[in-house]
Amino acid sequence: MAIVAGVRTPFTRAGTVLRSFSAIELGRLCVSELMERTELDGSLVEAVVYGTVVHSVLAPNIAREVALMPVLPKSVDAYTVSRACASSNQAITDAADQIALGHRDVVIAGGAESLSNVPILHSRGMSDALVAASRAKSLGGRLSALARIRPRDLVPVTPAIAEFTTGESMGQSAEKMAKINAIPREEQDQLALRSHRLAAVGTQDGRLTAEIAPVWVPPRYDVAVTSDNGIRSDTSIEALRQLKPVFDRRYGTVTAGNASPLTDGASAVLLMSEERARTLGYTPLAYIKSYAYAALDPGEQLLMGPVLAAPVALRRAGLGLADMDLIEMHEAFAAQVLCNLRGFESREWAERAGFREPLGEVDRSRLNVMGGSIAIGHPFGATGGRIVTTLANELARRGGQFGLLTVCAAGGLGHAMVIERE
Ligand SMILES: CC(C)(COP(=O)(O)OP(=O)(O)OC[C@H]1O[C@@H](n2cnc3c(N)ncnc32)[C@H](O)[C@@H]1OP(=O)(O)O)[C@@H](O)C(=O)NCCC(=O)NCCS
Repeated sequence: MAIVAGVRTPFTRAGTVLRSFSAIELGRLCVSELMERTELDGSLVEAVVYGTVVHSVLAPNIAREVALMPVLPKSVDAYTVSRACASSNQAITDAADQIALGHRDVVIAGGAESLSNVPILHSRGMSDALVAASRAKSLGGRLSALARIRPRDLVPVTPAIAEFTTGESMGQSAEKMAKINAIPREEQDQLALRSHRLAAVGTQDGRLTAEIAPVWVPPRYDVAVTSDNGIRSDTSIEALRQLKPVFDRRYGTVTAGNASPLTDGASAVLLMSEERARTLGYTPLAYIKSYAYAALDPGEQLLMGPVLAAPVALRRAGLGLADMDLIEMHEAFAAQVLCNLRGFESREWAERAGFREPLGEVDRSRLNVMGGSIAIGHPFGATGGRIVTTLANELARRGGQFGLLTVCAAGGLGHAMVIERE
């Protein structure tokens, strides 16, 4: 499966410059830029597979809404996938599977998230009263249904970044993992600092911005956002050390500085069968060699999924960690990255994944070489597309052959993919 090209919107902190765009609009901007950049004839696109996490109640199949735009024919198949933070990875592997099966030759995959526009729901009591009022046959009936509303029913329900089964938030999970694996605060802050520094360099020298579709901002459309706005080129270890822990205020180590921020953004990747890419005259950026998903009990160490998925993806590729020229690991939290890296070195985790030997130590000079989600941001449904694109582009720039990417996700899920350049 050929990765022909990838593009994304700027990733911007929720509630800032892109707050007026819905996830659908961000997805459309991204996909139309992808079409423009690749000069692809829309009639050749057979499907759009798109991921999101916080679905719109009004338009739950975001893929179809994204596909229904002028550059694509109305006959393009489109469906939405959801796998928490690995949703766009799921979209990409679904597209790859469709191509491998011979069902499709040209598919656009990716994802979008607008955490500025999460649906706010009524409480159960409020919903019951509103439904009863709408069904009442008289004004009196309507009023008596509404009269049942209690002050506590007025409190709205917002989607939580927490496990449905355990109630534990992502941040609490990261905190727990940091404690179990004895990850010091200093190490987390150093990793966050590195993420910001490298992302700042990648932005200044244009490697990151080259992957970004400029977005003109309403209402005047006189300003274009061309880069991520969460990257702090001026942050320092001293500033990071001073931040207070958020999820365990007394004994915790996870802060706003060493966690990924809530973010808006979209990504899109163009995938083709090798043969179709060749016929159309494209030189693929890279090829998908293998991938794997894994899961563990979310009540345990929620974000360790990549430790179980990576060895399987590598075995499927017939390769080892040492063969990887670059590694992109999604940074939900610095604590999670450090736990995952320790997990790669652990015999116990290797055995849990079904292997005798651990993967080994990751060469840090090959890891997240343009920073990661802590600095760049993390629009849940879009991050996977960003990582695949960045890994493929950077492998090409460095003349490398193999790259590994991993993404942890809610529910105790993990994803890993190996990509290859010719
Ligand atoms: C951690 C979290 C709660 C912080 O939210 P927040 O308080 O709105 O974060 P802010 O950006 O306002 O940062 C808080 C403060 O830290 C400061 N700060 C953050 N990062 C910093 C850095 N790298 N250097 C210096 N200061 C920093 C901010 O400037 C801000 O300071 P202020 O209060 O003086 O303005 C939020 O980002 C979060 O929930 N992240 C996790 C998301 C998640 O769970 N994702 C799922 C992962 S898969």
